[in-house]
Amino acid sequence: MKDSYKDGIIYSNTEISPNIYEIVLEGEFKGLPGQFYMIRGWNGLDPFLPRPISIADLDNGKIKFLYEVRGRGTHIISRLKKGDRLSVLGPLGNGFNLEVQGKIALLSGGIGIAPMLYLAKNLSGEVTIYSGFRNNAYFLDQIKPYVKNIFIATEDGSNGHKGFVTELFDPSKYDLVLTCGPTPMMEVVIKMCEGQVPVYVSMESRMACGIGACLGCTIETIRGMERVCKEGPVFKGEEVVLHD
Ligand SMILES: Cc1cc2nc3c(=O)[nH]c(=O)nc-3n(C[C@H](O)[C@H](O)[C@H](O)COP(=O)(O)OP(=O)(O)OC[C@H]3O[C@@H](n4cnc5c(N)ncnc54)[C@H](O)[C@@H]3O)c2cc1C
Ligand code: FES
Repeated sequence: MKDSYKDGIIYSNTEISPNIYEIVLEGEFKGLPGQFYMIRGWNGLDPFLPRPISIADLDNGKIKFLYEVRGRGTHIISRLKKGDRLSVLGPLGNGFNLEVQGKIALLSGGIGIAPMLYLAKNLSGEVTIYSGFRNNAYFLDQIKPYVKNIFIATEDGSNGHKGFVTELFDPSKYDLVLTCGPTPMMEVVIKMCEGQVPVYVSMESRMACGIGACLGCTIETIRGMERVCKEGPVFKGEEVVLHD
């Protein structure tokens, strides 16, 4: 991959749930489940840094991203319309392990559901997804055709189980576990799977360059500090140093 940004033309940019947007770009894109793109939706230097967003789906001539409006960068992207241009760099990082067969559990927390559609589509085992949200569940209608079972939890009980999604999950039923979500949730998942089943986690970190040059995104692993954008974002659960 050449480390240079290219333009993507916006095909659609739709709010699918409060503050959650799905953006589709037209153009020739590549990438594996769990990889991400650095995205810049503005000209000039404010905000200064592009934002990392996971591949949500990839199809002939189109790429989809799912994003939550958190701050200024994602707010600007949410205001863009069909025909506008975005500047993107990718695919970046290492994706999920797709080789394992058998029973596979996907666990997502909040916007951690973003990589799960493209991931579920590309796994060949029997896939079950456990998805937790604060309140509204979203994006699961698109994932449904590619999984055997869906378990939902919401913190306010408005959809599915009231509580955390990890309360529904029994790691002993699976041959592989893949997870993406808030760090505290993934730490719980790593501990639940320890000694029972291999688990891979997609770690979050603030990023500047996205290509391994600035060392701004490092996390602590059993091998020392490693870059989320280069060695990750997907790590084996046992490699990540947890801080209780
Ligand atoms: C590899 C990777 C893949 C990602 N994929 C997605 C995705 O598919 N969809 C999506 O919505 N988001 C994703 N994110 C998170 C996304 O990059 C941030 O939400 C985004 O950069 C926020 O930019 P902003 O300008 O809107 O907010 P800012 O103004 O930069 O920040 C707003 C708030 O969000 C917090 N924040 C910002 N970035 C992060 C981060 N990386 N981790 C934790 N907290 C953060 C800040 O501390 C602040 O409180 C991903 C992050 C990484 C590292
Ligand atoms: S963001 Fe620069 S090294 Fe990862």
